[in-house]
Amino acid sequence: MTNNSENLLNIKNLRTIFRTSDDPVIAVNDVSININKGEIVGIVGESGCGKSVTALSIMRLVPNPPGEIISGEILLEGNNLLSIDESEMEKIRGKEIGMIFQEPMTSLNPVLTIGKQITEILELHQGVDAKEAVIEAVRLLTIVGLPDPEIRVNEYPHQLSGGQRQRVMIAIALSCNPKILIADEPTTALDVTIQAQILELIKDLTTKMGTAVILITHNLGILARYADRIYVMYGGHVVESGNIIDIFNKPKHPYTVGLLNSVPTLEVNSDVELSTIPGEVHDLSSIKGCVYRSRCANPTNDCKEGKVEMGLIEIKPGHWVDQCCVNCK
Ligand SMILES: Nc1ncnc2c1ncn2[C@@H]1O[C@H](COP(=O)(O)OP(=O)(O)OP(=O)(O)O)[C@@H](O)[C@H]1O
Ligand SMILES: [Mg+2]
Repeated sequence: MTNNSENLLNIKNLRTIFRTSDDPVIAVNDVSININKGEIVGIVGESGCGKSVTALSIMRLVPNPPGEIISGEILLEGNNLLSIDESEMEKIRGKEIGMIFQEPMTSLNPVLTIGKQITEILELHQGVDAKEAVIEAVRLLTIVGLPDPEIRVNEYPHQLSGGQRQRVMIAIALSCNPKILIADEPTTALDVTIQAQILELIKDLTTKMGTAVILITHNLGILARYADRIYVMYGGHVVESGNIIDIFNKPKHPYTVGLLNSVPTLEVNSDVELSTIPGEVHDLSSIKGCVYRSRCANPTNDCKEGKVEMGLIEIKPGHWVDQCCVNCK
């Protein structure tokens, strides 16, 4: 992958497994992802392809057991997060890397007011006193557009709507001005209008603060609007990556093509059925050969027999495709 002076996070050959049966599930398999300062990078792929486990691996929050990061490096400005102590990692979580989870109700503490949940972080990471922390919490809730922030700061998560809780999560994630914000399906549980408001809010705030964003979604339409670059994941692997224009205009991997054909557009007549990608997701416990072969429309014999190893090749500067599928249609 490209590496330049603006490089912020460099994930190299990450492999994360779950030992839930005799054959471990390889949830993240040889994944390399690069994020530069201030850019919005999308990770897209269908359910179970390893998006959340990649995010949890970056935060070192993979539940262990049964999960384990078995190889690779996660370099934050050159510092390998996989080789530092847990106490050092605690300082990085929240302060250097913020995360917004899919369902805010499960990540907000139901027995603490939202104000308390923000001030605790500010006191821990920013070293401000209790009074200053409350003033800052109200300021943050104002920035994320929560109505009546002076009143809401004393309320509990269940007193807020889903969209309001997600705004609180954004306030918490951005409270320490992190270098990177990981947003894992931040709007899936919300209705379409609120979804757009939340995504615009993330984009506006991170642009102003110069924060890089990893935006995880199964919806390519969202990435078309918000991402600078995209990583397409399938079966634990990155199968294609590139800038938004190359991925949308010149997709090379048959899975990316399939995903694009399943995105609804205004031009498509509502009577026309959107395409689906036939076949089943590959068994994640086997690592021989191409993970996409059981769904590929035109696999070669070598590919069918699992003789072609996976690995990205750069077909033009910044546009990478898995070598097995680069010529598949
Ligand atoms: N705690 C766990 N224990 C066992 N296996 C797990 C665990 N968490 C994830 N996995 C497995 O890891 C693989 C990748 O899961 P992951 O949650 O990363 O998918 P995802 O791409 O985020 O999907 P979704 O779009 O549904 O959120 C799946 O096969 C999943 O079953
Ligand atoms: Mg997920």
